[in-house]
Amino acid sequence: MKITWLGHSAVKLEADKTILIDPFFAGPSQNLKANQRQGIDFVAVTHGHGDHIGDAFEICKENNATFIGGAELADEAEKFGLKALGMNIGGKIAVGGVVFNMVFAAHSANIGSPAGFVIEMNGLKVYHAGDTGLTLEMKLIGELFKPDLSLLPIGDTYTMGADMAAIAVDYLQTKKVVPIHYNTFPAINADPNVFKKKVGAKAEVILIAPGDHFELK
Ligand code: NI
Ligand code: MN
Repeated sequence: MKITWLGHSAVKLEADKTILIDPFFAGPSQNLKANQRQGIDFVAVTHGHGDHIGDAFEICKENNATFIGGAELADEAEKFGLKALGMNIGGKIAVGGVVFNMVFAAHSANIGSPAGFVIEMNGLKVYHAGDTGLTLEMKLIGELFKPDLSLLPIGDTYTMGADMAAIAVDYLQTKKVVPIHYNTFPAINADPNVFKKKVGAKAEVILIAPGDHFELK
């Protein structure tokens, strides 16, 4: 599976299907917009904050892609004329060979509830935490899914920072981690190398720049 970090919480997964998560393009990733928003099958949004829903509706429309999100957000997407699949925490949707599991996130939202996703595709499980603080629910996510890859916020202020994200790595029993939701704007400036050091040998921390990708096996 090809994993591309598009800056902030925006991540693209490409295997049998192409999935875009939280497509907000800002700061360093602004210039990636055009070529990264094509060929999308699913757009999954963790919660309604602007820095996560971003261009989700427009990208769905451009690609005739299916919107995946919490029930209330999916209703909004339908009003926008999109194909949308709404869900809620604890549920899963199997569609086109992909399984979207919606999991708990400790955060706030202006519409619906904030959430994370565990996405299963081509035999791999990817956990996108959305915006969240450290929570014991992550032990359950670890127990149930043992994610091959976890995408965890480390920017602090609005989510957990490096200290707590390193504890989350433990709880999640995850093999690999990519830190996200940092260095987009000053309130969430963070040094990913500090996070990497705190994780130590518990998991492989993959540091990539916005627009870069790697192959998850
Ligand atoms: Ni948020
Ligand atoms: Mn956010």
